[in-house]
Amino acid sequence: MKVLALNATYRTNGTTTSLVNKALEGAETAGAQTEHLLLKDYDIRYCTNCLKCYGDLESDIAPCTHDDDVTFILEKIKDADGVLLGSPVHMGFVTGLMYVFMERVCFRLARPTGEIFGLKGCPEPRLTDKARACASIVTAGWVPEEMRQYCDQGTEWLKENVPMLFNGEFVVDQYAAAYFPHELTDDEWKRAFFLRKLTESQHQEAFELGKTLAARIAQGSVRPFDAAAAMEACEQSANKA
Ligand SMILES: Cc1cc2nc3c(=O)[nH]c(=O)nc-3n(C[C@H](O)[C@H](O)[C@H](O)COP(=O)(O)O)c2cc1C
Repeated sequence: MKVLALNATYRTNGTTTSLVNKALEGAETAGAQTEHLLLKDYDIRYCTNCLKCYGDLESDIAPCTHDDDVTFILEKIKDADGVLLGSPVHMGFVTGLMYVFMERVCFRLARPTGEIFGLKGCPEPRLTDKARACASIVTAGWVPEEMRQYCDQGTEWLKENVPMLFNGEFVVDQYAAAYFPHELTDDEWKRAFFLRKLTESQHQEAFELGKTLAARIAQGSVRPFDAAAAMEACEQSANKA
């Protein structure tokens, strides 16, 4: 059982990396073999909308005009049974790096032959060989958990898109809000990002997240992407809005 972490932080030893490492420790205790890739260490170029991938309806990993490291990472995803996505919250969303990577994944791992809400030509998974368990960890600078909805639009976006891209089910997610070791002074608030810490309970939550992810894979209970369920979730979120 293989769990792959794709981490879109810009800091090798920052908070996202610390929690992702903890989650992978948890996955290992549940029997997983793990790998942690920092996307910033790879050559990942912008999609140019050349449509080479979009035009290929056969391949399980569609070709691309860029000759960079994305194919290597997509092969890792194909091989994995579970994928954990890590990202700091930047401007209320995932980092630009995560977004650029996902744009590149889009039609390379999905083909435009599906149908949603009666609309033909919607993307559907190419990697239908197995169902992959998906999870995310996002870290934030100062917005506490109870205000997550105003800060973290990235997790919902990942939940909407990743099951279709990786042909799987989103199993669990974590939002790790800032924790400050003492009441900050007005002056300290100006440097709040430098002062934030992670708590032991956030590390514990990450550890449990990894265990849950691996346990679901081991149970064989991960469902492949289900367009009808995705439509239902879409309708529910539209009704909420
Ligand atoms: C450009 C930028 C934008 C940010 N935007 C937000 C934000 O919208 N909300 C928030 O709570 N934190 C924000 N942060 C803080 C980061 O989410 C926080 O420091 C995070 O823990 C960094 O993760 P890292 O330690 O892996 O780098 C931002 C940081 C940067 C550099």
